[in-house]
Amino acid sequence: MTRTRSAFRPLISRFSAVLAAALALVVLPGCSKLHQVFSLSGPQSTMLSEGPVARAQWDLFMVTVWVTLVIFVIVGTVLAYAQIKFRAKSEAEEHAEAATEAGHGNPLVEIGLIAGSVALLVVIAVPTLKDIWYTYDVPKADVDSGNMMDVTATGYQWWFKFEYNAETVKLPSGGEAQLTTGNELVVPAGVAVRVHLRTIDVIHSFWIPKLAGKVDMMPNRANHLWFKADKPGYYYGQCAEYCGESHAIMKFRVIALSASDYARWLENQKQNARTADAKQITADANVPHVSFASLQNPGPGATFAGSPTFDADPFAAWKKLQSPDAGESAAQIANGRKLFQDKTCITCHTVRGHEGIGITGPELTHVGSRSTIAAGVLENTPERLHQWIKDPLYFKPGNKMYNGGYVDVATGQHKFELNDQEIDAIVAYLRSLK
Ligand code: CUA
Repeated sequence: MTRTRSAFRPLISRFSAVLAAALALVVLPGCSKLHQVFSLSGPQSTMLSEGPVARAQWDLFMVTVWVTLVIFVIVGTVLAYAQIKFRAKSEAEEHAEAATEAGHGNPLVEIGLIAGSVALLVVIAVPTLKDIWYTYDVPKADVDSGNMMDVTATGYQWWFKFEYNAETVKLPSGGEAQLTTGNELVVPAGVAVRVHLRTIDVIHSFWIPKLAGKVDMMPNRANHLWFKADKPGYYYGQCAEYCGESHAIMKFRVIALSASDYARWLENQKQNARTADAKQITADANVPHVSFASLQNPGPGATFAGSPTFDADPFAAWKKLQSPDAGESAAQIANGRKLFQDKTCITCHTVRGHEGIGITGPELTHVGSRSTIAAGVLENTPERLHQWIKDPLYFKPGNKMYNGGYVDVATGQHKFELNDQEIDAIVAYLRSLK
């Protein structure tokens, strides 16, 4: 009790300064990135939940916020009361010895505090347990009515593979395989999706902030979660467990579609890779490129012309990417397809119906219709695709396309080089895979 009088003033003024700075960041739209962070309105904000699982998690969070707020107010009030009432009122009191006689305390207060603490814990525990059950698996009503689907998500360093458990595709060889996509999980809105979580290497974690999460993808353990999107939309996902060099940029997208759009998408995905034909080219000159940039770096030595600001509507851009680009050149695409074989891309990537058979990298049968490349880090524009193929290590340190693909890890020797014309041809080929 000896220092109460003087110690508070500088603390209070420092706290006010921090508070004022934080408020300024919320209010000032000038610092847009920080503004987004402090106003909690970013594309990965858990506060804007758009599905029942995320909503349940948010509601539970708010229960704990209110309970802890009550505790904070009560404890703070008592503390402030004690500080004021028992403060030293004179110089003599300030230097006085503390009383040595031990007080017995007040049984009523002690029992009351214990009972109050238990009651508050129960208030938190009941909805917590309810949510543990609710978020664990798809509700019975959805299971019984068949309003659900199963997807297997596998984490790789550093990208996500999605397999549709109930959807098979016919292989050109005559067999069947599961429908597989990379980094973009397309689902029907309003349908419960059970995601079986697997990993091929280290521990990753699956998180779609506005829809559900996060649950770890662990070696030798079959975890799962479920989510449902209220309405069609474009949602951001993120690996949420440190998994190596490029963990922070291990992203993915969930695209929720209406039932009819989803059926159309599914039908197209089941087709073998598109072989561009001059006659098939649609003359839609207004196909916009996705112009958001989750990584606002123009790339090594590049004069990147795309907008560094976030696109207002990535979902609309995704939809437009489902149809072929205007002005594509069948000859260049054929050249790119040949280079895709010659430069050994096919050993790591599958292009169903064409030559690719690899399983180390994402499946690329319909890569031209995805809005992102490099695990959601770069928007899928010809410029970005070119930069990504030219120097994947720059955008995703440690990735296997470079280490093991371009460069022999054992010797450090370059396996092959690609010049800009070759890359442009490969880009044209990949863009044509709608
Ligand atoms: Cu995968 Cu972090």
